[in-house]
Amino acid sequence: MNAQAQTTQRQWQLRKSGDAPPRLELVELPVRQPGEHEVLVRVHAVSLNRRDVYVKMGRYPGPMRANLVPLSDGAGEVIATGPKATRFGKGDRVAAIFFQGWQEGRFKSEHLATALGGAVDGMLSQYVTLNENGLVAIPKHLGYEEAATLPCAGVTAWNGLVTRGHTRPGDFVLLQGTGGVAILGLQLAQALRARAVITSSSDEKLARAKQLGAAVTINYKTTPEWDKAVLAATDGGGVQQALEVGGKQTLGKTLASLAPGGHVALIGGLSEFGGDIPAYALMGRNATASGLYVGSRADFEALNAFLEQHQIKPVIGRVFEFDDAPAAYDYMDSGALFGKVVIRL
Ligand SMILES: NC(=O)c1ccc[n+]([C@@H]2O[C@H](COP(=O)([O-])OP(=O)(O)OC[C@H]3O[C@@H](n4cnc5c(N)ncnc54)[C@H](OP(=O)(O)O)[C@@H]3O)[C@@H](O)[C@H]2O)c1
Repeated sequence: MNAQAQTTQRQWQLRKSGDAPPRLELVELPVRQPGEHEVLVRVHAVSLNRRDVYVKMGRYPGPMRANLVPLSDGAGEVIATGPKATRFGKGDRVAAIFFQGWQEGRFKSEHLATALGGAVDGMLSQYVTLNENGLVAIPKHLGYEEAATLPCAGVTAWNGLVTRGHTRPGDFVLLQGTGGVAILGLQLAQALRARAVITSSSDEKLARAKQLGAAVTINYKTTPEWDKAVLAATDGGGVQQALEVGGKQTLGKTLASLAPGGHVALIGGLSEFGGDIPAYALMGRNATASGLYVGSRADFEALNAFLEQHQIKPVIGRVFEFDDAPAAYDYMDSGALFGKVVIRL
């Protein structure tokens, strides 16, 4: 489709009425042509994160735009550029970055107000008009659907394991569940020549994780004291890295699973955000905990270079059509999720 010819588009918005949680509504509205430093992107694929489910339930902390276009993650093709935009040209394949304002360096509080699909309109739209600095080129070996899985879960897993974690070959890496962050984390751990220890509520999903290279698999439902199983599987030494996505119910066991000198990336709240870290649990083991909130454009570019170098393709569990977006949300809670859920446009 040609941007000049295309003047209207369809997009999903989260509409709120009264005290009820927001509802997804498909609306038709004009395509906004790019301003000076902006780029118009024809979106070809988007992906869901657990955050998007919380946003739809009205349970996500932080600033939230009215009639929000949801979803932070998407990839597409540049079809028009503003008069002063120089980073991309027509036909370039791009993905949006989670915090549109965070290019590199330290995180600042003002970046919070630039989160796609939260503070500002997101990607569940046929077209988006974004500042050229809010985009990255997508790796050559990935299609749009694969690239759309990366901006939130991918960058977070990368920062947990590499930027903050400095994972080394031979390290044990703890991954919780088989959702977006954990499965990309498993693929990164493999490429880093680390040993993945993964938990799941499903033996069938654990078998799939094993096929992806997991060294140790533990069912956290049938083995509620899974931290002991982690220690047993690591000869009592524990894991050097942990991507903590479980939250309140898992944090204590994650700390109990941590090796001396280990690192835990505090990422998620699948069982509610929160939990306590007793100081000695870290101090006594010379261990580190770092709070992570996705990452910058520079982090995303570093992830993409690594994925290309190792020819890693993210795992897509299921793909939905644009008109079936509400079903994609339902699928996230169906118990069938493995890896990422994608919507194609
Ligand atoms: N801080 C950040 O920047 C950041 C970035 C991305 C995500 N997050 C957070 O990280 C968490 C994971 O996000 P996601 O998008 O990867 O989620 P997701 O794709 O929805 O993954 C959900 C999976 O996690 C597993 N799970 C559910 N409850 C669990 C529990 N109590 N203990 C262990 N595993 C559990 C389940 O796997 P099985 O079916 O295999 O049991 C479930 O399928 C969410 O809380 C999200 O908000 C934070």
